[in-house]
Amino acid sequence: STAPGAFGDLSEADRIAGRVYTDPEIFDEEMKRIFYKTWVWVAHESEIPEAGSFKTTHVGAEPVIVTRDRKDNFNTLVNRCRHRGATVCDQRSGKANGFTCPYHNWSYALDGRLRGVPYPDGYEGVLDKKDFPLHTLRTESYLGMIFATFNQDIEPLEDFLGDAKIWMERFLKQSNGFPTKVIGIHKFRFRGNWKIQLENTTDGYHFPMVHKSWMASVDAETADMMSFMDDPKSVTHALGNGHSVAIMAHSHVDLDIDDGTEEIQPRFAHLVEELEAAGESPERIRRYMRSMHGCGFNLNMFPNAAMSSSFFRILVPISVDQTEVWHMAIGMDGGPESVNRERLRIHEHFQGPFGFGSPDDAEGWDRVQLGAAGQPDMPIMVNRGLGREHLSDEGWPTSHVTDETGMRESYKMWKKMMSDD
Ligand code: FES
Ligand code: FE
Repeated sequence: STAPGAFGDLSEADRIAGRVYTDPEIFDEEMKRIFYKTWVWVAHESEIPEAGSFKTTHVGAEPVIVTRDRKDNFNTLVNRCRHRGATVCDQRSGKANGFTCPYHNWSYALDGRLRGVPYPDGYEGVLDKKDFPLHTLRTESYLGMIFATFNQDIEPLEDFLGDAKIWMERFLKQSNGFPTKVIGIHKFRFRGNWKIQLENTTDGYHFPMVHKSWMASVDAETADMMSFMDDPKSVTHALGNGHSVAIMAHSHVDLDIDDGTEEIQPRFAHLVEELEAAGESPERIRRYMRSMHGCGFNLNMFPNAAMSSSFFRILVPISVDQTEVWHMAIGMDGGPESVNRERLRIHEHFQGPFGFGSPDDAEGWDRVQLGAAGQPDMPIMVNRGLGREHLSDEGWPTSHVTDETGMRESYKMWKKMMSDD
């Protein structure tokens, strides 16, 4: 049964029953109670840059189209014709004046209004077009990140993001004053439950073990950044509403501070030369070089978004044991192409299909799903660091970056939403 309480004792912060990865009924409940109830990330505005731009994605199991209309408003429309339910758009992204259903050609405007139906005589007296727009989700954006929700009564997006907003701002400083732009997307599926990915974003614990091959593939300075594991200043903060942030102290680059002393890694020497030749000032060059290291933290935003280093990541739950992951590299809209290109290379090196990072993570996630196949009540443990967790100066539950504070925060929110009436 999926009655509240079926997921293990809700008061237990340190564990979750294994069936939350494997039970299809729980998955259906998650779609209803979480993905249809909360704010879900759907797009970055650089993906739909002009009036008429659109992209398709999912909110929970529901296919949606995110559009920018003629008035420059963002809309999230359910991709389902109001006649007999066909999807009205099958492209990943593009530009259009509206959408025409391929089946009987009902046509819709960018904001979802039903504009026309062929051979209208048959609908005389039985169809008022204004009553049949594409279903529209509430859509709000913060710093270019667009979120949508089916829940008309939910708090404003900014309230939901809460303390995660500070970290979003820091993440976007990598754009060095230029608008942030998605410069590449890599999508893949793994055979595992979506929460396995959710947990991973602040899992500092796995890094030196799982990412050994990545460490062997980079130069000594980069590998040395991994000393964050032993640095007590590397911490994870729970930020409320299921959000959390894991800070890697050694590699943390505070993009607010520029005292001119930071060394430029030899591996970027060719890039510095290229920028000098292009006439960039020494200050700008130093700034670009500092942002090459990314932001130095992983921000986990419940339920489906994460921001880390030079990319952000979205998870799309497909079924109880299948999840799609989108990795989006970010660059500067209008900034030097050479820097954007190098950022994309760094992203490919870790996240890409032939990269040394994400494919190793995905192997671990597949194994979690396989291992969880039997014994539905056997717990998954997220108790690491409970004994040393404390409140930060800002009042956030905090522990070392190798601890499971972020996962506990996500599951606290998960249990709350799954047991809300
Ligand atoms: Fe869309 Fe008939 S299903 S027009
Ligand atoms: Fe990893």
